[in-house]
Amino acid sequence: MKNQILSQYLLKDLKIKENILHNRIVLAPMAGLGHIALRQLISEFGGFGLLFTGMCSAKAVPQENPDYSLVFNWRPEELGYLVCQIFGSEPEIMAKAAIRIEKEGFFGVDLNFGCSVASICKKGSGAELLKNPGLSTDIVKAVRKSVSIPVFVKFRMGWDNNPQFAVDMAKRFEDAGADALTFHPRVAPDRRNRPPRWDVIKLVSQAVKIPVFGNGNLFLAEDGIKMLEQTACHGLSVGRMAVARPWLFAQWTQGFSPEDDIFYTTAMKFTQILLDHHTDHFSVKLFKKFAPYFCANFKFGHPILKRLNRAHTMDDIRNNLDSIFESFPETLLRPNMNLFL
Ligand SMILES: Cc1cc2nc3c(=O)[nH]c(=O)nc-3n(C[C@H](O)[C@H](O)[C@H](O)COP(=O)(O)O)c2cc1C
Repeated sequence: MKNQILSQYLLKDLKIKENILHNRIVLAPMAGLGHIALRQLISEFGGFGLLFTGMCSAKAVPQENPDYSLVFNWRPEELGYLVCQIFGSEPEIMAKAAIRIEKEGFFGVDLNFGCSVASICKKGSGAELLKNPGLSTDIVKAVRKSVSIPVFVKFRMGWDNNPQFAVDMAKRFEDAGADALTFHPRVAPDRRNRPPRWDVIKLVSQAVKIPVFGNGNLFLAEDGIKMLEQTACHGLSVGRMAVARPWLFAQWTQGFSPEDDIFYTTAMKFTQILLDHHTDHFSVKLFKKFAPYFCANFKFGHPILKRLNRAHTMDDIRNNLDSIFESFPETLLRPNMNLFL
């Protein structure tokens, strides 16, 4: 499959519940990264089918005020292609959150069965739920009964290296009423230090009739081609690389060809978008979360990251970007994985 064929495939219609998506590559949910400002930056390039929010607490969602919340907020124009992800451990609470999400006009709701961070698992949420398949399916059923928007499920391999478990869970989620799955083929609590098992994406995709988005270590278009060829998944879900290169979707589906100064102009644009949404102090904080992924694009990314991390204000960040790019830092085709968290 050549790049052009990749884009042709990604632009093939995909039915999710009764909705037709005209593009099957999506932004994966990422807490702290996939916020309103990064989504705006990505939206300005375009080329994706859907964007997912970072996980929001299902307990908090019904009372959240989007004017103040840093996670449950959005631009009205993105709602039509935005899916809100929630985490929680109680069917009724997850259903109530989904009702609010539907009322606000999101494209869909995504249920988190994948996060293996201790603070989430301790509350019985995220990947911890995979230890209790009965409760997991009750959550999907309760949400399905409460809303008519598409219900997505994001899950991982489980807690043992057992592909059959993932296949069984996929079938359970489908039977419980999920409309699409995103599968991240890693065992909990493995935090991206071992390669994902794409072979299990194939088993999961073959086991269900609903669309499955494959996720994990998609960096270059050739990875996308390989994943589609090797797994026959129905769509691609890209996380960290879309942070490192927010134009990735446009490149993979619309033939977007970045100019040499794309790194500089994009980082500068991002500083402005952050400031449009947040205080200077909070914008610096969010820029520093983005910085490791951005710096992974450069051959000598470590010293660049160090310089950006020394900033206290957005002016510092902009001044640093100006001086960093005066010397035309050498870029890498494949990002430096040591900087990818
Ligand atoms: C900083 C960070 C935050 C994440 N937050 C979430 C989250 O809120 N919900 C979720 O389902 N997955 C979350 N993930 C996992 C990603 O959605 C994705 O499964 C993972 O990064 C692998 O995909 P990638 O190799 O394309 O990055 C997060 C990942 C990162 C790096």
